[in-house]
Amino acid sequence: MQKRILITGAAGFLGSHLCDRFIEEGFHVIGMDNLITGDLKNIQHLFKLEQFEFYHHDVSKPYSCRNSLLLA
Ligand SMILES: NC(=O)c1ccc[n+]([C@@H]2O[C@H](COP(=O)([O-])OP(=O)(O)OC[C@H]3O[C@@H](n4cnc5c(N)ncnc54)[C@H](O)[C@@H]3O)[C@@H](O)[C@H]2O)c1
Repeated sequence: MQKRILITGAAGFLGSHLCDRFIEEGFHVIGMDNLITGDLKNIQHLFKLEQFEFYHHDVSKPYSCRNSLLLA
């Protein structure tokens, strides 16, 4: 089974590079960002990938996503 990882701040400078790296490493990446300083341009190249999903959400608030994974 493919490993999954949650990257918070995914649309930021560090987070977007982490998304790229973990996808390269074969992970399914769940990116989360409230876009307070981040920019979707940093990760727009990932949206076409099946192994990437993005949630526009504040990580300090509870969130339930696909496959009923409770993220926070
Ligand atoms: N080319 C470069 O060398 C370059 C470019 C940009 C930034 N930097 C440096 O990188 C550092 C900043 O990068 P960073 O990645 O830490 O900051 P960032 O602002 O780029 O990323 C933080 C991300 O977290 C998100 N975020 C913040 N609070 C959140 C919350 N509650 N829920 C969800 N998402 C939330 C923001 O929207 C943002 O996308 C600075 O030191 C800056 O000088 C360097």
